[in-house]
Amino acid sequence: MPDFLNPFSGTVPDRKLTDEELLRAIRLDIAGELEAIHGYMAHADATDNALAKAVLTDIANEERVHVGELIRLLSILTDEDEYLAKGKIEVDTLAAQLAAPAPAAAAKDEPTIGSLKTTGA
Ligand SMILES: [Fe+2]
Repeated sequence: MPDFLNPFSGTVPDRKLTDEELLRAIRLDIAGELEAIHGYMAHADATDNALAKAVLTDIANEERVHVGELIRLLSILTDEDEYLAKGKIEVDTLAAQLAAPAPAAAAKDEPTIGSLKTTGA
């Protein structure tokens, strides 16, 4: 579970953030948005009240937009896109490996001498 230290909890520093502090603050903001999504969706899932479910889900979706804004901001301010692209490639590679038939399974489907023999009468 994320447990980021918030250096500015309820206060504004008496100076402007350095570039590195700004990046850390944006990462903290992203975590806050994700935590909000988690909370709103859990509350929506926990109620049978249709209006409350719709409102909570709508708010959660707005938070998802905020995540996108913050990730975009991070990508403009730093080299985040390079790492995000690497992560996408790693997942796509694993997904392709899982989608491809295993060599043993492929061989199992190929006809063999035994599979050409008729069984029974
Ligand atoms: Fe938000």
